[in-house]
Amino acid sequence: MRVRVDKRIKDIIARDKAVMLKTTKERYPFVADHGSGDHVYDVSGNKFIDFSSFISVYNLGINANSEVREAVKEQVDLLMHPAFTDFYAERPVRFAEKLVKMFPKGFGKVFFSNSGTEANEDAIKLSRIFTKRQYLLSFYNSFHGRTAGSLALTASKSIQRKHYGPFPGVIHAPYPYPYRCPFGTEDPDECGQASLDYLKKNILDKEAPPDEIAAIFFEPVQGEGGYIIPPQNFIKGLREMCDDYGMLLVADEVQTGYMRTGSFLALEHFGVEADIYTMAKSTAGGIPFGVTVSRSSLGDVQEGEHANTFGGNLLAIAAAEASLDYINRNFRSLRSGINSRSSIVMRRLLEMQEKYGIIGEIRGIGLMIGIELVKDRKTREPAEKERSAVLEECFYNGLILLPAGRSTIRVIPPLTISIASLEEGLDILENALQKHSKRSKAR
Ligand SMILES: Cc1ncc(COP(=O)(O)O)c(C=O)c1O
Repeated sequence: MRVRVDKRIKDIIARDKAVMLKTTKERYPFVADHGSGDHVYDVSGNKFIDFSSFISVYNLGINANSEVREAVKEQVDLLMHPAFTDFYAERPVRFAEKLVKMFPKGFGKVFFSNSGTEANEDAIKLSRIFTKRQYLLSFYNSFHGRTAGSLALTASKSIQRKHYGPFPGVIHAPYPYPYRCPFGTEDPDECGQASLDYLKKNILDKEAPPDEIAAIFFEPVQGEGGYIIPPQNFIKGLREMCDDYGMLLVADEVQTGYMRTGSFLALEHFGVEADIYTMAKSTAGGIPFGVTVSRSSLGDVQEGEHANTFGGNLLAIAAAEASLDYINRNFRSLRSGINSRSSIVMRRLLEMQEKYGIIGEIRGIGLMIGIELVKDRKTREPAEKERSAVLEECFYNGLILLPAGRSTIRVIPPLTISIASLEEGLDILENALQKHSKRSKAR
């Protein structure tokens, strides 16, 4: 059924525009009301299948699952705010003990915050404290957040940095984007190697002495920047570079972590361990929460060097603990469910790619899948307007999707989405792609 945008929706949007600072929600008129499982409803009763997990947050279904909600409800009546960096409380400690078990051996220091950007700020601070070095490296197309430190690392869209820079101490390098390799090769391994060579020859040799670089920050799969999967040799090379020069490797798993790719950490797919990991988004089923986990061997900070007010908030911890318990109890079925859903999506999208010239590339790990749209497969010119039109068409037919990069669509449904909803959503997507594919050239 076509979504109807009625007066109530229009009024709320007008009131929003009058009182709220502008953000990024110009895309389409969705005014959230309630939801559960695979579906979300707007204030006028329009029903949507969700392929966005509300920016990769609802990994266990819209509005989390009943276990998470119950845990939060119980905690509300006990105590919400324990001032955890000033006082002690058992639940955050218990959760941290469970959490570190999900990481490779030797990860035992945890810090709680309230968002992805804060988790990265904490990692910046820790890497400078631990190494006593200043410089940080990160990559083009990366997104690490919008507060001063993490925005300095971010290089996805310059508008995000406008009027806020300069950001001294951070150097960006090309990330291997195999479909559009900045070094002009079609071969993913060559692209990975060229990116490593660039780092060595241009950054370490010419710009920042390696013994002054504290850390390399990276996303194991770039999210906001376009769902870009780097070649294995690149990630392995980063690890070696860090080992050679005593730099720390910081994996921003804010979007990729917590099973999104079928493993708890996306980095597991690359056979590499980082020194510090950051997570947020889906960790607490919709309650603001960020976490930074570092290798125990890096040591600790001094008393007073780092703290916050809300980290370890008991509602967030209750949700996070219930989510993690659910993941642990259902690990195998969850993982096989992610993999089978991923296969369904990839198969359907590859079939669509055969038919519609607008699809340039399909790439994904687990249920983190990107569809890059192009005007022409030969020139690979990004199909930006067409992407907006496809997203809008899907919206009006009851499917919520989000963009990434210049012309990519993210397919990130809840990990628990039913096969029926998945197929229904893919049908809506296919109709939209078919409609807007007409002018795109397949060859
Ligand atoms: C990889 C990554 N890091 C950090 C962030 C920032 O997280 P938050 O918006 O919670 O500050 C995001 C948000 O999209 C992200 O995708």
